[in-house]
Amino acid sequence: MTDSFVRLYDSVESTNDLALKAARAGNASHGDCWVADHQSQGRGRREVGGERRQWFSPRGVNLHFSILLEPKELDPARAAGVTLAAGVGLCEAINATSQFDGLWLKWPNDVFVNTLKLGGVLTEAVTHGSKVEAIVLGVGLNVNVKRSQIPRDLTNIMTGLAIETQRRQDRFEILQRARQSIIAWCDAYMHKGFSALSPGLERWDDCDGRQVDIFEHDSRREGVARGIDENGHLRVELPDGTMTALHTGEVQLKV
Ligand code: BTN
Repeated sequence: MTDSFVRLYDSVESTNDLALKAARAGNASHGDCWVADHQSQGRGRREVGGERRQWFSPRGVNLHFSILLEPKELDPARAAGVTLAAGVGLCEAINATSQFDGLWLKWPNDVFVNTLKLGGVLTEAVTHGSKVEAIVLGVGLNVNVKRSQIPRDLTNIMTGLAIETQRRQDRFEILQRARQSIIAWCDAYMHKGFSALSPGLERWDDCDGRQVDIFEHDSRREGVARGIDENGHLRVELPDGTMTALHTGEVQLKV
């Protein structure tokens, strides 16, 4: 990672787009990072059901960045674990810079404080046939945003680090730690497998026992989360007592 770069931008459409473009052009390497103070078209995760959310990216307050990973060899079936590894890395970095109660990782890609969302990871891949050439981890983290700046439809959903700790936070210190920690957890997962995530998941994952909505075609049914399996899928107990493993497009965890 010695010759990787961090590029800072004032305003871009989406840092994930910059990283994907560089990866496709072969102009980037493992650990490179694109950071923007503001995004005009920041992308959030696709909702179960297909709709893509815009990511709230105001100027001067939060962190929006994308990290490029070039896995040596990664079975596409294991890609979901990379998002989890990034989430663990992000929780570790947040905890190292600002301590407060209630921080947890909500499968598959959200960082929460109790019932409110603090940040999220959007993972996008560049593939060639069945080979994963590059993975882009896009991270949005609410840092110094004030409650009054959060759009009305998000006030009951989102929080920020300065809101939780009641003091302004150093965005660059968090960025530096988060980048290092995310790359280290993702490398450990990609080289050593799912067991490398166990200490991180034990500490930050708090999904077990939560209610989930399961979506199949046009119907919805309920279940209870029972941990995460080796492929990064959520284990769910159905009302008849049977267990199933579901991936991100099929199930939504309730907070
Ligand atoms: C989520 O929906 O929880 C994931 C949000 C990811 C947002 C980040 S901000 C930096 C990067 N660029 C984007 O367009 N999206 C990600």
